[in-house]
Amino acid sequence: MARASGTAAEGFLPADFTHEASGIHYKVTEDGGRVWLEYERPEATASRELAGRVQLEYYVGSGLRGRTYLFEREGYWFEAPINWYGKKRVWDMAPNFLPAREMPLTLPVDPGCLRCHASEVAESLPDARNHYAGEPFGAGGITCAGCHGDGTAHVNSGGKARMMNLDALEPVRRDSICLNCHLEGEAAVIRAGKRVEEFRPGDDLFDYAVFFVRKSEKGSAGRATSQWEALLKSRCKQSAGDRMTCTTCHDPHGSPGPEERVAFYRAKCLQCHDTQGFGEQHHPENQDCTACHMARPPSNDIAHEQVTDHWIRKQVSETRLPLATTGPLAAVGAAAVDKWDQDRDLGLAYAQMAARGDQAAGRRAMTLLEKAEKEAGGAAGDYELHTQLGFLEQMDGEASAAAAEYRQALTADPYDALAAGDLAVLDAGNHDYGEAVRLWQGVFAHDPAQRGAGMNLAVVECAEGERTAALETLGRLLEFAPDDGQARALAGKIRAGGRGCGGK
Ligand code: HEC
Ligand code: HEC
Ligand code: HEC
Ligand code: HEC
Ligand code: HEC
Ligand code: HEC
Repeated sequence: MARASGTAAEGFLPADFTHEASGIHYKVTEDGGRVWLEYERPEATASRELAGRVQLEYYVGSGLRGRTYLFEREGYWFEAPINWYGKKRVWDMAPNFLPAREMPLTLPVDPGCLRCHASEVAESLPDARNHYAGEPFGAGGITCAGCHGDGTAHVNSGGKARMMNLDALEPVRRDSICLNCHLEGEAAVIRAGKRVEEFRPGDDLFDYAVFFVRKSEKGSAGRATSQWEALLKSRCKQSAGDRMTCTTCHDPHGSPGPEERVAFYRAKCLQCHDTQGFGEQHHPENQDCTACHMARPPSNDIAHEQVTDHWIRKQVSETRLPLATTGPLAAVGAAAVDKWDQDRDLGLAYAQMAARGDQAAGRRAMTLLEKAEKEAGGAAGDYELHTQLGFLEQMDGEASAAAAEYRQALTADPYDALAAGDLAVLDAGNHDYGEAVRLWQGVFAHDPAQRGAGMNLAVVECAEGERTAALETLGRLLEFAPDDGQARALAGKIRAGGRGCGGK
């Protein structure tokens, strides 16, 4: 885990490949200690021409399963659009962009992403979650403090002040140390007024966040997306209870090499399973307990899915079952049960599912969030609740109810780009262009990688005959998203003096 991230030069891995769907040729090159991502569409028509480069600052991912790079533009941080797939040993697009026809160069890197991959992560500026005053983190990789907490007192006292004793922590706080980075669920909801970046070793993770999976995933179908959910389904964990945790089988200071791994994990199983010489009688022909009880379906390069199925069971399946995409959600782990807000947190989890196309989840979310809003006396400070309710109302065609929710969200957080951008769309729908433009300008000025706001702004400017302003907006957008086809097309049209924009 110490090599989970670092400078791009330390993690330099050359790339040279052409992505078919977009026709873009990518290269990662090094030149005097500086690492570059170069991109070019060699056989493009004039309207799709693309060539340029960005300097890569950091890498993320030891390379075992994958690696990507981070780069910066004007203090905004982004993830490179390409990814190294460690198992297949190939470069390709980042996981969600394999069929993309345009280069996605505006993938934001916020503290919520960095907190699992780096140490001393900086707070971002209020205007955009991926905007930092300086470097986004102080140290690459997971340092001792990532699990042991701040060791300054220990060091300053010459070792007299004790380090936190991790084994002596109450089980949920002990488990939280690993789960802070290794639990994601199908949906993760940050509890009202909390920020998960503020979690420190020794805290209870469920005070900060609640994690949800589809209820059916707890049964026999499907594969869990992380080790903890899978482990919770295992008889071992259910029977051993708090005696079993991640460090029952893992050495947090380093994993065994390929020659030692079979004996290493076997010894861990036999800690509990060696009654009456079980180990000697049970399948002596194969020393690898995990080969039969913890499936390892072939090649999985998706960074955030478990590779080794931690659902320990008698008969494992070697095929990867698809995750459920419908049905009710359940919170992961008993620890969360009495803490989370049944209406707000579950409602926000369903809203996340709705955003992925689950319509039934949308209806559930609406009912729960309206109830939560009422119960919290309007929930004035909860911008997330209001933004999501606004979005659900908007989907339902309830424009004025949606606008009211977005306004409340903006009172709680004036930089909420989602609320501002969507409110502007509603205003424009009511022909209130002045207000719409003001909102889009605000969003785009604070975060020039907000392509929707930039594009909408340019379209209105164009409609009002303000050619120069529209071209400036599009130029700014294209600095951050040079392959945005819509922006390029509109800019081309304006320059050619076409109708609609060229007129006045
Ligand atoms: C909740 C914690 C968490 C967050 C948030 C998170 N990751 Fe990860 N990521 C992990 C863990 C843990 C692994 C190791 C996966 C495993 O083996 O289970 C991983 C693996 C990866 C890998 C593959 C590394 C390798 O070689 O094993 C890459 C690349 C990656 N993440 C990039 C990112 C980026 C970029 C973001 C932000 C946009 C991000 N991750 C957000 C926890 C997180
Ligand atoms: C991924 C989490 C993690 C990281 C990173 C980590 N530790 Fe630990 N460490 C633990 C846990 C958990 C224990 C408790 C013992 C156990 O269960 O193995 C522990 C125990 C220890 C102990 C007690 C002796 C022992 O081995 O049981 C020392 C000393 C120690 N760690 C030092 C360090 C130092 C120094 C670093 C940084 C180089 C570090 N640790 C990084 C999780 C971590
Ligand atoms: C600050 C975030 C963080 C914490 C805390 C953390 N991990 Fe990790 N862990 C990661 C990331 C990120 C990776 C992937 C590293 C990579 O390959 O890039 C990883 C990888 C691993 C791996 C895969 C093999 C390896 O050694 O790299 C194991 C096993 C693991 N972690 C176990 C644990 C356990 C057990 C704990 C708790 C004691 C823990 N982790 C705490 C972030 C974390
Ligand atoms: C902390 C103790 C502990 C560890 C470590 C442990 N187990 Fe278990 N395991 C149990 C207990 C307790 C049961 C339930 C026994 C019972 O109910 O009769 C169990 C049950 C099982 C079962 C039966 C599952 C079923 O569905 O009936 C299998 C298979 C199993 N363990 C395999 C393993 C393997 C393989 C490992 C190592 C990778 C392992 N266990 C590590 C405690 C443990
Ligand atoms: C019963 C033993 C056991 C327990 C408990 C356990 N693991 Fe594992 N884990 C394994 C084995 C075995 C592997 C495969 C290692 C290998 O192939 O080298 C593994 C692999 C991993 C990996 C590497 C990626 C993968 O999926 O193969 C990560 C990350 C990991 N475990 C995290 C965790 C975390 C986090 C916990 C606690 C929630 C945990 N493990 C609990 C046995 C266990
Ligand atoms: C070659 C495959 C294989 C290997 C290797 C293997 N097992 Fe099993 N194990 C099985 C099968 C199959 C069953 C179910 C058989 C049954 O129900 O009688 C089983 C059953 C079990 C059970 C449940 C026993 C019961 O009476 O219900 C436990 C516990 C278990 N294995 C643990 C282990 C441990 C620990 C190791 C390593 C020391 C191991 N197994 C190695 C295939 C294997």
